[in-house]
Amino acid sequence: MSSGASHLYVAARAHDEVRTAEGGACFVQPSLLKMKLQDAERHPLIRALLGDDRHVERLFDGTLGLAADAMHAASVLGCEVVGTEASPVLFSLLEEGLARLGRAEPLIARVRPQLGEAQAALAALPDGSFDVVMLDPMMSRPKRSTPSFAVLRAFAKDERADASLLHEALRVARRRVVLKLGKGAPLPPDAPYGFPRVERGSSVTYWVHDRA
Ligand SMILES: C[S@@+](CC[C@H](N)C(=O)[O-])C[C@H]1O[C@@H](n2cnc3c(N)ncnc32)[C@H](O)[C@@H]1O
Repeated sequence: MSSGASHLYVAARAHDEVRTAEGGACFVQPSLLKMKLQDAERHPLIRALLGDDRHVERLFDGTLGLAADAMHAASVLGCEVVGTEASPVLFSLLEEGLARLGRAEPLIARVRPQLGEAQAALAALPDGSFDVVMLDPMMSRPKRSTPSFAVLRAFAKDERADASLLHEALRVARRRVVLKLGKGAPLPPDAPYGFPRVERGSSVTYWVHDRA
């Protein structure tokens, strides 16, 4: 008998995962992390985060998703990462997955997820309390077809980084704001400041506003 549900949240001994009716599954995993770590500080995400001052102790990731970027940053830079995820389902995967992976890898244990909206979390933080604020909104991303991205898309908050979110990001960021967009996606038209530094990946662009 079919329940009619499109997704199933499974808490298993190995890990929590979200399964689709078509048999896809999605969970927090360090999928491409090993490969990315080979690029060390040459990786465009790390170049974007480090800038010229090359100092990131505290990173705020307003759009955690499945924390691939957060785990990458923590693993290369050894920084503390505090992040928000607006979707309760994705947050539940993050809570289980980061705790599981963090038991084997102490640097991943430095990523601390919070359930909630980036803007509200940033608004509660003091000026300059993080070195870098990073944002990776869904709206600018191509409709990829990997099972885990399809699950992410089904539950994710799907909004642009608007002017008020970017404003709060800059207030909290002591060194820089990094906005990750799909390759070719335009910057938000109402962005309250410029992103003059650009680090390019193969399918994404990291737009960087470095504070003077
Ligand atoms: C493109 S994904 C981020 C992927 C992530 N960078 C990674 O490496 O796995 C965007 C995620 O941010 C979440 N999100 C989008 N806007 C948000 C907001 N304003 N506050 C909190 N979470 C948000 C979405 O629910 C989605 O899971």
